[in-house]
Amino acid sequence: MPQHDATRALRAVRTGPLKGVVRPPGDKSISHRALMLGALAVGETNIAGLLEGADVIATGEAMRAFGASVTRLDVGSWRVKGVGVGGLLEPEGVIDYGNAGTGVRLAMGLAGSHALAATFTGDASLVRRPMGRVLDPLRRMGVQVVARSGDRLPASLRGPDVPIPIEYRLPVASAQVKSALLLAGLNVGGTTTIIEPVATRDHTERMLAAFGAAIDVEAGEDGTRTIRLDGRQDLKAQQITVPGDPSSAAFLIVAASIVEGSDVTVGNVLLNATRAGLIETLVEMGADLVIENRRTIGGEEVGDVRIRAKRLKGVTVPAARAPSMIDEYPILAIAAAFAEGDTLMEGIGEMRVKESDRIAAVAAGLAANGIAAEEGPESLLVHGGGSGIGGGTVATKLDHRIAMSFLILGLAAEKPVTVDDANTIATSFPEFQALMAGLGARFEDVEPPAATK
Ligand code: S3P
Repeated sequence: MPQHDATRALRAVRTGPLKGVVRPPGDKSISHRALMLGALAVGETNIAGLLEGADVIATGEAMRAFGASVTRLDVGSWRVKGVGVGGLLEPEGVIDYGNAGTGVRLAMGLAGSHALAATFTGDASLVRRPMGRVLDPLRRMGVQVVARSGDRLPASLRGPDVPIPIEYRLPVASAQVKSALLLAGLNVGGTTTIIEPVATRDHTERMLAAFGAAIDVEAGEDGTRTIRLDGRQDLKAQQITVPGDPSSAAFLIVAASIVEGSDVTVGNVLLNATRAGLIETLVEMGADLVIENRRTIGGEEVGDVRIRAKRLKGVTVPAARAPSMIDEYPILAIAAAFAEGDTLMEGIGEMRVKESDRIAAVAAGLAANGIAAEEGPESLLVHGGGSGIGGGTVATKLDHRIAMSFLILGLAAEKPVTVDDANTIATSFPEFQALMAGLGARFEDVEPPAATK
């Protein structure tokens, strides 16, 4: 089950140059979607390169609970036999999504337009996160919801017999909300219309088109995207190859960029423009980063990213870039700590409702390691180039990306950096420690600090 029990403190120690060629695990966003669309398609969907992190495994279990057959054939190789659009069954138990915000929000959409009842919950991080952003528009489709105060999990949904097609303009830039509503729209008679004011990751739209859904995307001159989906049409099972996750690659790329003398190639990285904000920012910061061997796999552009260590310079990251690198700000803050000058990240309020309040968690972690930073309601300013940094213990707050970011800090800082719990990393990047060690990184197990025991 996607439960997170024991904590495991881990320390990263300054290391020599990182060298080698590595591949990040499969993309988390695409992996969730592949299992979900496979579960609704007619026939057998085969997936290669699926991320086998706890979040995605939770989606596999959820799809089984809704009646699909989900089988692991080999490492990363999975087969899903779908039930057909409208064919989900009522689960017998509570769906426990562990730490997975994307999983639970998308699954609530998928199930919400079916005439069944389902109850969703998650771990201590997930039950604090806002679900109203998905539940409100689902209510407009006719879904009945009983949730904890503030629309938090656990939440029980009962879908209507005849769901109503809606036109919905996203109040926050969120690919999860967009995707949840498109998945709901699959079992709605008529056209579901979603308008997004700024482009967010578009994997759902691409994959729906590949599965044969009647979907149309219209880009406005002002950057608005209008997505129309005609529901109650069959999806055809597919062969899917999941590209490498740029949000996991980000840790490897930044590590190589800040550990002196490093030269690392991160292969098979998804380069979709809606995910490429970190690469754009690192290039602006002066990183020695080259993309080689660009190619298209399964309708997505991928490439090999070669990165050599180089002193970076601070930049201002504009708010407009936030959707394309929303999960990468914690690791960008680490890069910024080693840059010359200040780095200002603007318009990042959404960071506060991730697996943890990431603006607060990053600012606290930087402070614990002697790095000056200033937190705003929707911004973070990191003063780069400090000396004598490291030596602190970071509270990871059940947040995998906080844990990985600060371990990378420890590889380049003068003094070791400890994170209070590295077990959370398994939600998105189970092979992180082994893969980094293969490049030359040094990690040491330590006794957890008293407060987290
Ligand atoms: C995701 C969308 C983003 C991102 C998350 C994955 C997705 O969340 O932070 O890790 O797969 O759709 P929001 O939609 O809340 O911005």
